[in-house]
Amino acid sequence: MEIDEQQHATEQTVRALVQRSHRGPKDLTLTADRRRPAPGAGEYLIRVGAAGINFADVMQTHGTYGGGPQAPYVAGFEAAGEIVGVGPDVESPLQLGTHVVGIGPGAFAQYMTMPAAGVLPVPSGWSDAEALGLVLNWATALAALKPLGEIKTGEVVLVHAAAGGVGQAAVRLARHYGARVIATASPAKHSTVKALGADEALDSTRPDLAKEITRLTGGVDLTLESVRQATFEASLSVTKPFVGRIVVFGAASGDATLTTHDLVFTHQVQIKGLHIGALALQQPSLYQSLLVEIEALIAHGVYPPGTPQVHPLAEGPAVLQQLEAGQTRGKHALDPWR
Ligand SMILES: NC(=O)c1ccc[n+]([C@@H]2O[C@H](COP(=O)([O-])OP(=O)(O)OC[C@H]3O[C@@H](n4cnc5c(N)ncnc54)[C@H](OP(=O)(O)O)[C@@H]3O)[C@@H](O)[C@H]2O)c1
Repeated sequence: MEIDEQQHATEQTVRALVQRSHRGPKDLTLTADRRRPAPGAGEYLIRVGAAGINFADVMQTHGTYGGGPQAPYVAGFEAAGEIVGVGPDVESPLQLGTHVVGIGPGAFAQYMTMPAAGVLPVPSGWSDAEALGLVLNWATALAALKPLGEIKTGEVVLVHAAAGGVGQAAVRLARHYGARVIATASPAKHSTVKALGADEALDSTRPDLAKEITRLTGGVDLTLESVRQATFEASLSVTKPFVGRIVVFGAASGDATLTTHDLVFTHQVQIKGLHIGALALQQPSLYQSLLVEIEALIAHGVYPPGTPQVHPLAEGPAVLQQLEAGQTRGKHALDPWR
């Protein structure tokens, strides 16, 4: 792709969404005077085409995301866009003009930097927005189901928040691997999860959730837990003792506790924790194998181009508030040039 170097050279200040407090997304404000970042060692400078919105963004605005940025900071961390600069010490750099998807600080802006080692080319024929979710939602869902969850054909898999960004990927993948999928989501989103292939869609807030799942399944082999406070007790009760696995990768409704006493005397299940960024850092070969598998899933049409709802940058604070309130479904994104 041709790059207009002159245009890029004049774009020294950028539009960005800056979080100025730990009081949540309401304090996220649009500014037009942020300095364009410069790529450091091992980094690319990216002209952001689309930035992905994630639940972690909401947690960061409250300062509750482990190791997250301290206010004030340019919000967002997932994006896809064009490489327009390369910092020093990037091994075998991709060509300028290549479109990539990855994570890095300050994605809700026209330009950001990304560690070069973590980016993937946008799949051929896909737009930047369509590639969002690849290294985050899909990698998280795949890690939860396969290496950690050890999913097997014919097993029962319970997916909470199944209409969300990670949840939708998990439902598709679990069906692809031959599982029977029990999904929980708000009732208004049930048609979405059913359309993705979920066998049952249940309201996660119904008081008899555990009883109903046990009635339907006789016991769950693998539970993907991301809601935590509200659903964790049900997850513990319905997952099969000893052979059942619960992969915990989120806590959208707040923290819950589990004691060693609980594990010994009440819920003898296998509990596994997952943070995809930590996995990429601490088990790079395992992470690479996830990306290889995702490429194969794309090639076989199991993973289609994403269909995020793309909003102008200025709508970011409102969309984050909707995500926080559980009012969104699927993936949402921001276009920093609109
Ligand atoms: N560990 C990792 O590496 C990793 C990576 C990516 C995401 N995550 C986690 O995975 C989860 C899903 O992330 P996402 O970005 O794909 O978000 P999302 O699923 O699009 O949004 C969160 C959904 O959780 C449900 N929910 C239930 N109780 C909620 C509450 N009290 N407040 C807000 N939402 C509630 C809502 O769906 P219903 O209305 O249908 O219940 C809501 O739409 C989050 O917990 C996130 O932190 C973890």
